[in-house]
Amino acid sequence: MKDNVIYSYPVINNSHTVAVVDDFFKSSRFPKPPCPVYYVHASEQAKSLRTVESIVRWLLEQEAGRDTLLLGIGGGIVTDLVGLTASIYKRGMPYGLVPTTLLAQVDASIGGKCGVNFDGFKNILGCFAGAEFVYIDPKLTVTLPDRQLRCGAAEMIKTFLLADAESYAAAVRCFSRGTPEPGILDTLVRRAVQIKSSIVAEDYQDRGRRHILNLGHTFAHAIEKCSDLYLHGEAVAIGISMACDESVKEGLLQPATAAAIKKDLYSVGLPTECDIPAAQLMKAILQDKKRSGDRQKFILLEDIGKPVIWERSVSA
Ligand SMILES: NC(=O)c1ccc[n+]([C@@H]2O[C@H](COP(=O)([O-])OP(=O)(O)OC[C@H]3O[C@@H](n4cnc5c(N)ncnc54)[C@H](O)[C@@H]3O)[C@@H](O)[C@H]2O)c1
Repeated sequence: MKDNVIYSYPVINNSHTVAVVDDFFKSSRFPKPPCPVYYVHASEQAKSLRTVESIVRWLLEQEAGRDTLLLGIGGGIVTDLVGLTASIYKRGMPYGLVPTTLLAQVDASIGGKCGVNFDGFKNILGCFAGAEFVYIDPKLTVTLPDRQLRCGAAEMIKTFLLADAESYAAAVRCFSRGTPEPGILDTLVRRAVQIKSSIVAEDYQDRGRRHILNLGHTFAHAIEKCSDLYLHGEAVAIGISMACDESVKEGLLQPATAAAIKKDLYSVGLPTECDIPAAQLMKAILQDKKRSGDRQKFILLEDIGKPVIWERSVSA
């Protein structure tokens, strides 16, 4: 860890605050929040109803009420768990987030979607519940392992592919050169948050326009269901590559643009293919929560910055 890192907290005036914190911070120099703390060991297995129940038990021990503020400090696992727990505890308590992974800063903590996994299905139980605040300090990510940083880059690149060709190119340049320069990373995080927030503002309940944020995710969730070799951001990068291939097959995207996007993802240090058999992936896609009858929505691209919601008939 760098010595000159200054960590900070948002100023919280709530009279009763309790925090759920990623257990990475138990042993780091990050100061313990000045309130009761419940530590979570972040993993997809821990993103479960069982963990929600444990947090609820702990909240009861803390005599948390509907006016207690639940603070979530950690990556996307913690932010998803905290959002869901806060939305159902005593029919809803306020919560605030301090995302500490790049992926959580640019994606998981933004937009009020929260959920847990169940029986191998990703995010199959969840709700929409907006945080009171999201406090983003890019310095918090300096301790992230390189592989995790690149997972955040995958979600950031996904957002730029939807809406901002210039920032897309800047992000690819930034992450292709090893460790990102802090000033550039800061600008990219702000821009990604801005784009995601504006898409969410148009369609909070995810009934239309917001679907575009799922670029690469129908494939990614199927990949994560079939294999535990890949982190979420890596599965998203492979999913984006598959979405590019599908876009070419449908005659929407120029093959050269698809090839360039895959090359860019590769240069950022992300995987662009996996060896899961196509039939196995298709079976997992058929179980996707966004499937409606025999119709499945895919987010495809016509170009960088031009997503298309493509609905197609799929059958078992
Ligand atoms: N709700 C949404 O809109 C949304 C959007 C995207 C992703 N997600 C979810 O987010 C999850 C992935 O989030 P993630 O990639 O942040 O994973 P994560 O929460 O598992 O964190 C990754 C790892 O980094 C560690 N960590 C956290 N902060 C750190 C830091 N500052 N320094 C060093 N290590 C740190 C954690 O302990 C963990 O081992 C997935 O479950 C995904 O479904 C949700």
